[in-house]
Amino acid sequence: MTAIVETHNLTRLYGETLALNALNLEIPQGAVYGFIGPNGAGKTTTMRILTTLLEPSGGEARVAGYSVLKERKAVRKAVGFMPDFFGVYDNMKSWEYLDFFAASYDIDPARRSALIDDLLALVDLSHKKFADVMGLSRGMKQRLSLARTMLHDPALLILDEPASGLDPRARVELRELLKELRSMGKTIMISSHILTELAEMCTHIGIIERGNLLASGDVTTIMRSLQPHRIFEVHVLGELSAAAELVRGRPHVLDVREIPDDMPPHLQIDFDGDDQAVSMLLATLIAGGAQITHFAGQVSDLEDIFLRVTEGSAFGGTN
Ligand SMILES: Nc1ncnc2c1ncn2[C@@H]1O[C@H](COP(=O)(O)OP(=O)(O)OP(=O)(O)O)[C@@H](O)[C@H]1O
Ligand SMILES: [Mg+2]
Repeated sequence: MTAIVETHNLTRLYGETLALNALNLEIPQGAVYGFIGPNGAGKTTTMRILTTLLEPSGGEARVAGYSVLKERKAVRKAVGFMPDFFGVYDNMKSWEYLDFFAASYDIDPARRSALIDDLLALVDLSHKKFADVMGLSRGMKQRLSLARTMLHDPALLILDEPASGLDPRARVELRELLKELRSMGKTIMISSHILTELAEMCTHIGIIERGNLLASGDVTTIMRSLQPHRIFEVHVLGELSAAAELVRGRPHVLDVREIPDDMPPHLQIDFDGDDQAVSMLLATLIAGGAQITHFAGQVSDLEDIFLRVTEGSAFGGTN
C-alpha cells in the first residue's frame, strides 16, 4: 500500500511549547485513520500542518506525494479539511455557504449548482438547502462542513473531531457517511480524544500524546503488539479445580483462576502464547478429560489499549 500521508520528524514549537516532537506518521491510501490523543496532544497542530494552514518548525510532511513546504498548492488540491469549529456565517443559506467556498476553489460556475445539490444529497441535507446556516443543528452543521471539504473532490479528507458533540444517532450517521466516502476511494484522517468514538470506523490508528506518537499502524497489529497476554475463559462440566490442574504450569500459562461463584462457574487463564499454543492448550484440557462447554479468548477493546499506551497519564498531564 502506498502512503498518502508521510511525515518525517515533523516538529512544531509554539514559543517554548513543543507541540509536535519529531513525528513520523504514515497513512496508507484508502485508510480510515483514527488520530487519537487527549486534549493538547498535538492533533489539530498536525492536521493544520498537513493542510498547509500552519508551517512546521522542523521536519517535513508529504501529502499525496507533495511537500507541504514546497508544493502547497498541490497539497491543498489533494486534501479537504474540516476544522473543529464551524465559524459564524450570518444570513447565509446552506447552498450559499457551499457556493461561497466553491467559488473560492475556482469551481466552474456552470458546474456549481449540480455539484452543490449532489453534495447536499450525500450528507443528507437536501431538505435544508434554503435554510439559514446558523439555524442548523450542530450535527447538521458538521455535515454541511463535511460537504464543504468535498467540493474540490480531494483524495484525502482530514476531519478534526467531527464526532464531538453529536448524539448517538448522528454518530451512527457519521459512521455510515465515512463508510460511503471510503467506498468512493477517499482516504480519511479523523481525530478524536474518545477512542470508542472511532473504534468501529477505523482501519488504522495513531495514538499521540504531548506531541509524541506512541503507536501507529493497522488496528489489529496495534492491538496485538499491545496485548502481551490474552485472557481465556473456559467453562467446564464438573470440578473446576481438576481442569485448572491440567493447565497450571503449562507453557505460556501465566495464571489460572477458578471462579466458582459466577454463573456459570468458569476458569480464567492468562496466556501469552500464539494461536498454535492456544490450540495446544485446548487439546491439553480435552486430553486430560475436562468436559469443555465454552472456550473463548477475550480481546481487549481499543479503550483498554489507549489507556495502556498512555499509562493512565493521558488525562493527568500538565498540558
Ligand atoms: N496558537 C497556539 N499558540 C500557542 N500554543 C498553541 C497554539 N496552538 C496549540 N498550542 C499548543 O500546542 C499543543 C498542542 O495543541 P493542539 O491544538 O494541536 O492539540 P489537540 O490534540 O488538537 O488538542 P484538543 O483535543 O484539545 O483539540 C498544546 O500544548 C497547545 O497549548
Ligand atoms: Mg484539537
